[in-house]
Amino acid sequence: MAKRNVVVIGTQWGDEGKGKVVDWIAPQVAAVARFQGGHNAGHTLVINGQKTVLRLLPSGILHPHVTCFIGNGVVVAPDALQIEINELEARGIQARGRLRISGACPVVMPYHVAIDQAREAKRGAAKIGTTGRGIGPTYEDKVARRGIRITDLLNPSTLPEKISEVLDYHNFVLKNYLGASELDRDLVVSQALSWGGYLAPLVADVSAELNAICAAGKGVLFEGAQGTLLDIDHGTYPYVTSSNCLAGQASAGTGVGPREINHVLGITKAYTTRVGSGPFPTELTDETGAWIAKRGNEFGSNTGRARRCGWLDIPALKRAVEINGIDSLAVMKLDVLDGLPEVKVCVGYTNGATLLDRLPVGAEEVARCVPAYESFPGWTTPTHGLRSFDALPEQARHYLTAVQQLIGVPISMISTGAERDDTILLHSPVNY
Ligand code: GDP
Ligand code: IMO
Ligand code: MG
Repeated sequence: MAKRNVVVIGTQWGDEGKGKVVDWIAPQVAAVARFQGGHNAGHTLVINGQKTVLRLLPSGILHPHVTCFIGNGVVVAPDALQIEINELEARGIQARGRLRISGACPVVMPYHVAIDQAREAKRGAAKIGTTGRGIGPTYEDKVARRGIRITDLLNPSTLPEKISEVLDYHNFVLKNYLGASELDRDLVVSQALSWGGYLAPLVADVSAELNAICAAGKGVLFEGAQGTLLDIDHGTYPYVTSSNCLAGQASAGTGVGPREINHVLGITKAYTTRVGSGPFPTELTDETGAWIAKRGNEFGSNTGRARRCGWLDIPALKRAVEINGIDSLAVMKLDVLDGLPEVKVCVGYTNGATLLDRLPVGAEEVARCVPAYESFPGWTTPTHGLRSFDALPEQARHYLTAVQQLIGVPISMISTGAERDDTILLHSPVNY
């Protein structure tokens, strides 16, 4: 049986370049499936200079033969989805014909967005730095068993009552606890009713369809959003997102058994970035950090916020390798380091007298970590746009080889530019 099913996940704090990799691998599979997160994601594809930013749509959508799935683990904002589909359809890309959405997806409702934003405002300096898209409150409602699911949108006779009940509760919190405006029940209901008609043709038994594709050996690419260090359980809690972003979630978030997964591909930048609040041991607050941010164009593809930049963090990557079961790594944005006189890598931390070789779990522990660095010589000739390993400058090859040894997992792909084909393949993650 062909071993074509690959999970692509972020190993850092998101924005590693998952979208580019998924788009690049997609021609080799029949389906791409999102399994967690929502439109807090921003996955960028660049093809012949044309940029596409995807938030909810899987990054296989530009390939006409690929069916795109949104699994039950994803929280869906129907208005954001519609905008995204319209943007593609205006360019002649028929997204709807190839899109299948699970009826079990929780719906991001207007009150979730209001709560997310009001809560962040109330927290002030202690804010999480969320994307303000209502993701956390939507997952809270799911777990509290009061969420509105996509199937509910398809039942106009019961929907108003369901919304009334949950809105009563949220309006109480908005008004009395958060000091924000209440939402008008009739407006929320009429908006939700209008979504049902639009989504109905897209709703499918995602689990059954994906399992059929797996059984036929045609290949499924499971596309993670966010990254390991933003995982609700294993990340720098509470400065995390509200879903599990690990490879294991690909199974629960789509309804495909874990034994169907053949390869876990971890995506890492050649350095590290983080957007939003929370500890970041290798953060560079000096001119080198600013230089990387500028060269790497490190501004959020979704919210436009500046991303914090720092050196590569091996103890964090080692943790990511373990908890995701990573088989190989894609190292992205190597070209951003072109021209630096030296490139550093964090190889361990000290916390007082304690030496650590793994990122600890939770924000307070991580905040106490002081990184220990190993320094590598930089490269003066550019790697940007190079498409073979042998063409890379010797120092860049040395850096990658050392990183691979430090992490203990093979590098299967290297990216040297945002363009789809600025990619070096060492081992194909499909049929690895
Ligand atoms: P994702 O959320 O993991 O899909 O990553 P994002 O799309 O949010 O952020 C990655 C950014 O880096 C995007 O703007 C990409 O176009 C860009 N990018 C991806 N790979 C490379 C690369 O190898 N070099 C450069 N210079 N940019 C890249
Ligand atoms: P992709 O898929 C980077 C961060 C936010 C914030 C925290 C919680 O493009 O890699 P949320 O809105 O999820 O409640 O915010 O998580 N965050 C991301 N950071 N890339 C992302 O997605 C992110 N999605 C959420 O900045 O710190
Ligand atoms: Mg992103």
